[in-house]
Amino acid sequence: MAAQPGQTGGSLRYRQNSYTAAMAVIATRGKVPKVPHTEFHAKPGLLALEEIHGVYGFSGAYSRKMHLRRYPTEQVAPPRLADFDLRAEPTQELPLQPFHLRTARLAAGGDFWRARRPLLAGPATTISVSRPDRSTPAGEFFRNGEAHELLFVQQGRGSLETEYGVLPFRPGLYLLVPKGTTTRWRLAKGPAFFLIVESLQPIHFAPHYLNAQGQATLMAPVVETEIGLPQLPPARDEAGRFTVLVKHGGGRVTRLTLGHHPFDLAGWQGALYPFSFDSADQHSISREIHTAPPTRQTFQSGEAPRNGFAVCTFRPQIEGWHPANVPAPYAHQNVDCDEVMFFSNANYGARRGVIEPGSITFHPSGLPHSPQGEAAKRSLKARGKMSRELAVMLDTFFESLQITGQGLKIADGGYPLSWSKRRHGA
Ligand SMILES: [Fe+2]
Repeated sequence: MAAQPGQTGGSLRYRQNSYTAAMAVIATRGKVPKVPHTEFHAKPGLLALEEIHGVYGFSGAYSRKMHLRRYPTEQVAPPRLADFDLRAEPTQELPLQPFHLRTARLAAGGDFWRARRPLLAGPATTISVSRPDRSTPAGEFFRNGEAHELLFVQQGRGSLETEYGVLPFRPGLYLLVPKGTTTRWRLAKGPAFFLIVESLQPIHFAPHYLNAQGQATLMAPVVETEIGLPQLPPARDEAGRFTVLVKHGGGRVTRLTLGHHPFDLAGWQGALYPFSFDSADQHSISREIHTAPPTRQTFQSGEAPRNGFAVCTFRPQIEGWHPANVPAPYAHQNVDCDEVMFFSNANYGARRGVIEPGSITFHPSGLPHSPQGEAAKRSLKARGKMSRELAVMLDTFFESLQITGQGLKIADGGYPLSWSKRRHGA
């Protein structure tokens, strides 16, 4: 039977949101057969080989990938452990306390993977930063085989190259990379700085922002059609020796050697793929009095708030305009959450004088937290005015995170007492 004519281009369409959706949008890049699992020749006389990349076994979001001539399984040398690993180092028993980590004080150096520093880790979630000063080495690729990744670009420009295509990056962008995606990083110039969230479960837009057809509602602060989709260049039809480093088993890294270039897709179609989302496209929602963080939610993992985590973007918005509104947050104790906050700039009024750009605060459950010092009184002047912050907040649900040894090295030892010191000058 003759092959079906291929579908080409970059079409989008909505899918029924019948399972925990990794994405609400199906995308197509390059050429794929109209009917899945049917004979297809991207080049005359050459049978393309199909791969399904999916979550939740065979039941969740997936994409079908059409390899030009070889399966992605063709290793030509035995697997061996890499010369580095990405395990989160455990720490000794510590008393319950809040942490302030100054990530900007970490030295830049190495490529994106070897520069990664896990700072906080739990059974299903890891928070790292990476400050690479060079692109991925030639002939080398990397795949996170055990976690989905959400990255926030704090500094640097360049491109994330994957088998799905190329995504440019710049400061302020989120990049979402599904577990199992093969990647390379190209830095345009100078060092880059990434916040990295890893999750065992898929990361996606919050289902409560989506209607029954999987489309963002008209009340949602994020609009899924504003994502950046990868652009697929022509398939790399190249033989040779190509290294794929795979992270697995709690941070071990294994070196695979393929006999062909991994970016060999004639096309792909599906709902699982890497994409970017500009934090500036988080459309803030304000109300007359203080608005709690869930209105700022951008992504989530799992079934938040029952498990997984929520990611919120704090960006400029009008502070409540009620004549007696207190714009600063109230003290709060969210007993089922560990709260991690990454400050892209230091304009967050509740922590003024404590944080610096690149600071991470970690407030574990079991402790209330609040603004420092005179922040509440000071915030009265901001009533009804535009704020200037840019921060990423992650709240886990029913998952405790622990600080790693690498995190402790950049911890501000005075942070637990910073509330009383800021108020009383002690
Ligand atoms: Fe908080």
